[in-house]
Amino acid sequence: MRDAEPQPIRLADYRPPEWLVDKVDLDFALHPSQTRVTARLALRRNPKGTPGAPVALDGDGLTLVRLAIDGKPLAGPSFEASPDSLVIAHPPADAFMLEIETLVDPTANTQLMGLYRTSGNYCTQCEPEGFRRITYYPDRPDVLSVFTTRIEADKEEAPVLLGNGNLSHTGDIAGTNRHFAVWHDPWPKPSYLFALVGGRLARVSAPFVTASGRQVELGIYVEEGKQARAGYAMDALKRSMRWDEEAFGREYDLDVFNIVAVSDFNMGAMENKGLNVFNDKYVLASPETATDADYSGIEGVIAHEYFHNWTGNRITCRDWFQLCLKEGLTVFRDQEFSSDQRSRPVKRIADVRMLKAAQFTEDSGPLAHPVRPETYREINNFYTATVYEKGAEAVRMLKTLLGEDGFRKGMDLYFRRHDGEAATIEDFLAAFADATGRDLTQFALWYSQSGTPLLTVSSTYDADAGTFRLDVTQSVPPTPGQPEKKPMLVPLALGLVGPDGRDQPLTLGNVPVEHGVIEVTEAQQSFLFTGLSARPVPSLNRGFSAPVNLVSDLCDDDRVFLAAHDADPFNRFDALQRLALELLKAGARSGTLPPADALVEAARGLMADTALDAAFKAQALALPGEGEVARELARDVDPDAVHAARTALRRTLAGALAADFAAAYEAERADGPFSPDAASAGRRALRNLSLDYLAVAGGADGIARACAQFEAADNMTDRIFALAVLAQHDVPEREAAFGAYYQRFEADALVIDKWFTLQAQIAARSTLDRVKDLMLHPAFSLGNPNRVRSLIGAFAAGNPTEFNRPDGEGHAFVADVVLTLDSKNPQVAARLLASFKTFRQLEPVRRASAERALRRVAETPGLSPDVADIATRSLG
Ligand code: TRP
Ligand code: ZN
Repeated sequence: MRDAEPQPIRLADYRPPEWLVDKVDLDFALHPSQTRVTARLALRRNPKGTPGAPVALDGDGLTLVRLAIDGKPLAGPSFEASPDSLVIAHPPADAFMLEIETLVDPTANTQLMGLYRTSGNYCTQCEPEGFRRITYYPDRPDVLSVFTTRIEADKEEAPVLLGNGNLSHTGDIAGTNRHFAVWHDPWPKPSYLFALVGGRLARVSAPFVTASGRQVELGIYVEEGKQARAGYAMDALKRSMRWDEEAFGREYDLDVFNIVAVSDFNMGAMENKGLNVFNDKYVLASPETATDADYSGIEGVIAHEYFHNWTGNRITCRDWFQLCLKEGLTVFRDQEFSSDQRSRPVKRIADVRMLKAAQFTEDSGPLAHPVRPETYREINNFYTATVYEKGAEAVRMLKTLLGEDGFRKGMDLYFRRHDGEAATIEDFLAAFADATGRDLTQFALWYSQSGTPLLTVSSTYDADAGTFRLDVTQSVPPTPGQPEKKPMLVPLALGLVGPDGRDQPLTLGNVPVEHGVIEVTEAQQSFLFTGLSARPVPSLNRGFSAPVNLVSDLCDDDRVFLAAHDADPFNRFDALQRLALELLKAGARSGTLPPADALVEAARGLMADTALDAAFKAQALALPGEGEVARELARDVDPDAVHAARTALRRTLAGALAADFAAAYEAERADGPFSPDAASAGRRALRNLSLDYLAVAGGADGIARACAQFEAADNMTDRIFALAVLAQHDVPEREAAFGAYYQRFEADALVIDKWFTLQAQIAARSTLDRVKDLMLHPAFSLGNPNRVRSLIGAFAAGNPTEFNRPDGEGHAFVADVVLTLDSKNPQVAARLLASFKTFRQLEPVRRASAERALRRVAETPGLSPDVADIATRSLG
């Protein structure tokens, strides 16, 4: 374990590396507990470094066996080695070959960083700082090197041996039961992109020919017997590769592209060069086991990791402060891909829902940080919604500001200028500024200022002058370390909707507004639109063009009108959601829900609109989550009151629209075999939403329907949705269904994860005991991150009433799990602890119990840096 109180790392202290690695040869002799790693580093003093600087290499828990320089063994005082570093104070020359032999124990590696074992197979995870758990190395992203990897293993134990790049040769080791493979990656890369895999795996393969005619062999490796479940991932991979050629002009650059699905993985997936390693949740799918959300998750993550080949690998990050350079940009790219493959408005709605639930929440609490942080204690804790999701929003805003052509020119210049380099956000923005001539100084604040900007908009119509004035104020709330903020550049897409429901001309003074986007740049600003013969209803922040909170003076009638007529589908959705949110907030505050007539009218109108697709309706009619209501309430939140208000509003809608939901339930019935395409998924979504409302409306009818669907379903989406409906009702059918589900799927861990999650999310005081019992269930394991997330994570982050029980038992329980887990897997423990990030918005009793739990964690001796960092900042 590393030191729990390391000094914070600061962006301002960046120094280029003192030594470079021109090439590196790695030799692995795989063994369950004593894997021998021999590294040969061609070290060369960096001409841009400090003259005379020592060679200082990173390590983490390493056992050194042997060192040699240019073939000569190195002895005692000429170096200093500890598990965590290797220093050669007086290197013999400015360029030499350093040979390092270390021993690592992959079986004992429960952190799942470095070389570890999963289901008996060997695999690695190096981002961000896992390579130093394999050998001593300048383990930082700005040291790029050409890697050759030789892997040797027992033929029985590891018939499959995979590395980065192209396979150069394989062979048997005479007189033994061992064999080897040598992989060579011609593309210089940082150590975090290194990977190897060894084990017993089945392979699904397919050919791909790139735009310029390069033949690529695609391979997906899965557990024996699961090959059929890799088909959708393979299809998504091919579509991703073609799309990157068409949308960004980016081609693949090796002869092979391999993906390995593993069961023990800290995150979603990893973009190692030519050898992506995936959480099997994002590879395996069949109609019986995967939901529509699983299918779209697979499509998105496959695309994401593939797109990293250019945004992350060919151009990497200078340092970890620049993480958003690859992550925000690559999320933007995968979002665009999915939008092109599916429905653009529906994808945008789903992304914004996620952004608000995860990133706005993070940005309004103690863990808020800029898209590009300026300091960190533990980089693992910065793989956040802010870096990923808000980082993607920044790129999206760039595109909105520069237009399709300007954006593409900027991207092309960025690729041309920085290919093969480790770049910064400044480099990225300079490419767009230089390609388009646009000054992006103010725009760059999106990367440095944390907190969600608040825009307040009021409007005045002057009938005589035919003018419509928007008065806009903006402010960015204080966040940790940033008490004061500057005004941001906010690209605000808008329309002025006339009484006939059509967009009126958008003319500022007498200049037409291009692409319907105005730029808010000041703390206070007015925009005077002319040539308007009737009072328009402003449709603001269309398509969620900027990630801001927006308060406007629109009244309920305006929102009902926009829900029915807005040309922008996102704002039709948003108008309905805003009506619901205001009701939920008022209901949670006062204990009684105000009349919901406006919402009911808007909802009925949308349900009846035959021009709208089912997926859109399902999104619009799904009420804002309890987390979003809590975030908008901002203080003294009583999660039970929020839940009660939401339940009451669900009943109101269920009652008022009972006929519409019953009709939709029949109309959206599938007419053929299961297909995961977006249109079919949309119909299932609307049908299942209807089922949910029908059950909420009360009566045995709804429950009977859910039971029937649960039993008859021919796909996982319909089955799990029916079970989710039953889970929220305290009826005997619920336990019977949970039992039947377990029996049916007990052999399939990923499918049982859904079973854990639904139980952890039941809004009832008995849930905590249920979760504690489930931790003892044979299907559960604290050692597997998917199990932890699906049970404990779902409880902490997806069950606000029970996690925040007024007696504090939910908080205490999660703190206990964090402490137990910390010694096994600090990354997953820290992520779980981050569920406390909303505790300051709670009412005093619950806030105090959350704080007690956090303090108890913070004061425990021997914490990992990961958990210590989250605990300290949360209390901060
Ligand atoms: N770079 C990966 C991605 O976003 C995610 C990642 C970062 C990761 N650190 C990790 C995955 C640690 C697994 C373990 O695509
Ligand atoms: Zn990524």
